[in-house]
Amino acid sequence: MSFKENNGIPIPQEDPYFYIDNETLDILERIHRIAQRHPVNVLVAGRQGCGKSSIVHQYAAVYQRPLATFQVGILSEPGQLFGEYALESGETKYKQFLFPQAIQTPGCVIHLEEINRPEHPKALNMLFSILSDDRQVWMDELGMLKVAEGVVFFATLNEGEEYVGTEMLDPALRDRFYVILMDYLPNAVEREVLIRKTGITEEQADQIMHAINLIRGNSEMSLDVSTRTSLMIAEMVGAGATLRESLVTSLQASKPTLESILLTLQMQKGFLEKTESEYLRFCRNVVL
Ligand SMILES: Nc1ncnc2c1ncn2[C@@H]1O[C@H](COP(=O)(O)OP(=O)(O)OP(=O)(O)O)[C@@H](O)[C@H]1O
Ligand SMILES: [Mg+2]
Repeated sequence: MSFKENNGIPIPQEDPYFYIDNETLDILERIHRIAQRHPVNVLVAGRQGCGKSSIVHQYAAVYQRPLATFQVGILSEPGQLFGEYALESGETKYKQFLFPQAIQTPGCVIHLEEINRPEHPKALNMLFSILSDDRQVWMDELGMLKVAEGVVFFATLNEGEEYVGTEMLDPALRDRFYVILMDYLPNAVEREVLIRKTGITEEQADQIMHAINLIRGNSEMSLDVSTRTSLMIAEMVGAGATLRESLVTSLQASKPTLESILLTLQMQKGFLEKTESEYLRFCRNVVL
């Protein structure tokens, strides 16, 4: 199959520093093989910022497939992904959205974000038949829509602290997916990612990892530091900020929690000294 004809849906750029464990790599390889026989559904579950969207993106990049992403979390009615009636030069016309086009594009990777959070419980109804063995749905406005060969649906599901696993999802829907469970990267790999992606030094990466582990290891703080947050911290450090400034701006923590983190780090390492505040003018000729 060639995907040059991809209805204008772009094939994403590969992330040269994306890491996954060998087991997940094998699963993706097999998904790819199954997809050559018929469309397939994959559910990617994991905590916030652990790399769910990235793995879908990377799958499309590695296998050179067009990628179309849809926010299921904001849907409030069943047909909303497909199109809408709009007024055009005095006439009401049905305007098709990207979704019907994507499902009819051979080999397309379709990312359904936050599938567990549609605003309306019935919003997923029309997706059911597309994700089931039928692989087609009838619409008065568009006729019979059939899923093209080689299409892979990736649904991502955010696991909050309030629930674990995929129970949130309707059983009938969950049943139709292979499941990939993701978690944050092991320390050594995360450190590598920080260095490679943000250009910080090994020493800076060690300091950041130390701070992150302190927070992750303290269950009382109930503060999760995702891969996304650790990258934000590293990027801030790479842009010249102190570790203290980077933590203060990147962690979504309450003031007391933040103070206690900073205090502990300061006592342990002494690298979080706060400098005296002074007030400067923030205007163009001062900044440039
Ligand atoms: N395994 C990984 N290797 C390299 N970078 C990663 C990895 N996992 C996550 N990242 C980086 O971390 C950031 C967050 O990842 P991503 O947006 O994919 O998380 P997510 O699970 O989809 O988050 P959300 O729950 O908010 O949707 C991205 O910048 C991504 O590149
Ligand atoms: Mg995401």
